[in-house]
Amino acid sequence: MRHFLSLKDFTKDELLEMISLAQQIKKETKAKEFKPYLEKQTLGMIFEKSSTRTRVSFETGIYQLGGVGLFLSSNDIQLGRGEPMKDTSRVISRMVDMVMIRTFEQSKLEEFAHYSKVPVINGLTDAYHPVQLMTDYLTMLEFGITNPVVAYVGDGNNMTHSWLMLSAKLGFELRVATPKGYECDANIIKEALAIAKTSGAKITFSNDPQIAVKDANVVTTDTWVSMGQEDEKEERLKAFEGYIVDENLMSLAEKNAIFLHCLPAYREYEVSEAIFEQHADEIFTEAENRLHAQKGIMVWLDQHRDN
Ligand code: CP
Ligand code: NVA
Repeated sequence: MRHFLSLKDFTKDELLEMISLAQQIKKETKAKEFKPYLEKQTLGMIFEKSSTRTRVSFETGIYQLGGVGLFLSSNDIQLGRGEPMKDTSRVISRMVDMVMIRTFEQSKLEEFAHYSKVPVINGLTDAYHPVQLMTDYLTMLEFGITNPVVAYVGDGNNMTHSWLMLSAKLGFELRVATPKGYECDANIIKEALAIAKTSGAKITFSNDPQIAVKDANVVTTDTWVSMGQEDEKEERLKAFEGYIVDENLMSLAEKNAIFLHCLPAYREYEVSEAIFEQHADEIFTEAENRLHAQKGIMVWLDQHRDN
């Protein structure tokens, strides 16, 4: 049995198999052909943080695959009152067929997975957001980006870490620009660079958004204040001055460069209103693709159960 906790746990071929399942199922869904790949299966969806896209896409996705989603907010289940993760896992995984978790530490997700009888999917942790990156890759392909040169401008956070792993695994170029003091986690950088050596990915880091964006064909960013960092908001807004993706910065990218944002977006902070609206088609296709990419992941995990 395989879990989907981080992109680093999969080979390039495995990730591409999930993408190609997603493409096939997206085509079927668009033709209103809802094949019951996960008939009568239940997906438990545990949320310790807020969500719009992750909740709606997983719940709709499992339903369209012939199953049902259970929304389990930590405010409502005993986990929120202190029932241990490992007990929650041993209970829920005896009743459902797959679990998606959005939580804080990656170690909490790993603990759940360790005790789980069914595949577990990372729906965002402080360290990674891998389902979003599979979605972003699917979206890049749809917009004709087959040889990505990606510029990530902003916070060295869960999104950036997942970009590092995606680039390292698939072997494309990634330039990361973060302000001083907001760089990516040093251990994750080390791991990604080690993987990149085998794939040939070129990954570079700087504190200069202009260097990152120059001639890139994909520009992306994320909020400067992630969930759980609300107390740091004021100091973060100061530290990220000059990191907005606006028309000036975007003009340095390749002429037909696309702009991606996992959302929610904070206009006039990490992205200008003008750039956001100019690239709304890409951004909202990306949002829709959560539905399709995650179907590919869920069906792949189901195909790789031991029993
Ligand atoms: N991008 C993303 O994960 O959105 P939500 O927080 O709304 O799920
Ligand atoms: N980095 C953001 C992503 C939101 C989808 C956060 O963790 O809040």
